[in-house]
Amino acid sequence: MSFDGLLSDKTAYCESVMEKWLPTVDGLAGTDRYAAVVVDAMQYSVLAGGKRLRPLFLHETCSMYGGRKELAEPLMAALEMIHNYSLVHDDMPAMDNDEYRRGRKTTWVVYGEGMAVLAGDALLNFAYETALKAFDLCENAQETANVVSAVKLLARNAGIYGMVGGQCADLEAEKNPAGTQEEGLWYIHKHKTACMIESGFVIGAMLAGAPEEDLNKLDRIAENIGIAFQIQDDILDVTGDSKELGKLTGSDEKDGKVTYVTMHGLEKAAADVRRLSEEALQLYDSLSASNDFLRELIVRMITRTK
Ligand code: IPE
Ligand code: IPE
Ligand code: MG
Ligand code: MG
Ligand code: MG
Repeated sequence: MSFDGLLSDKTAYCESVMEKWLPTVDGLAGTDRYAAVVVDAMQYSVLAGGKRLRPLFLHETCSMYGGRKELAEPLMAALEMIHNYSLVHDDMPAMDNDEYRRGRKTTWVVYGEGMAVLAGDALLNFAYETALKAFDLCENAQETANVVSAVKLLARNAGIYGMVGGQCADLEAEKNPAGTQEEGLWYIHKHKTACMIESGFVIGAMLAGAPEEDLNKLDRIAENIGIAFQIQDDILDVTGDSKELGKLTGSDEKDGKVTYVTMHGLEKAAADVRRLSEEALQLYDSLSASNDFLRELIVRMITRTK
């Protein structure tokens, strides 16, 4: 099958995993129905056709080291729920104040700000409820130990040492763009974006019991890819097509953000996406296992337009 065919099948699989693990309004019984609106808002935010890259990375590194697909599923769903919560809150007026995502109105526009806060909170909490269900699927002590490591990493990379830390620095930089230096911008990209991508790459391999040396390499590969991913996001905010992206361009300029493009210009930004990705590919080729689809996905991301 062609790469595009594989990508579309695998994305559809990730979509089905989200549908399987997310709560539904119909699934609420008795007085739990008082929570119907927040569950509806969770569904609206998640089942809106994102690229599903983080669960896809997780699935691909798990299968690359011969791991069990069933064990990976709750972690795939949990990672994507956390990513989606971060987007719901990121779009709110108190943060980036954006009205479109994935080709439709953002959660706060449709459900109101209070409910968007709760939908984000609910997704974050449900993510851990879901991740912990992986323990019920373990078949031996080694798998249980792998799930312990995976859930620890999931939590760490989403919090103050990861995505939340990056979002904190992003907001602080918006207040003081002139005072933001290279190191600060690098911290923002690494934490708000690369950490969640690292979770995808490393957790999948961890669940499959990949060697420690490969886990360390995957962490470095994903750091490069994640930083390149955010640089490309900053580029597309200037040069992209709103329709294709599903979100309005010019958001960073509207908010007075410091981005890789405002600091270095479009040309260097694009060159650095390529350089970081090529470094990642070089390290990728030294892993003890291989996955041609994942390699090609990394290559395609260098020139992504959405
Ligand atoms: C958007 O992530 C937020 C960033 C980290 C740049 P994605 O570009 O992966 O968004 P979806 O999930 O495909 O909508
Ligand atoms: C967001 O970065 C990263 C998150 C942790 C949500 P951006 O604010 O640039 O992402 P978009 O452009 O809104 O998707
Ligand atoms: Mg933001
Ligand atoms: Mg944003
Ligand atoms: Mg952006």
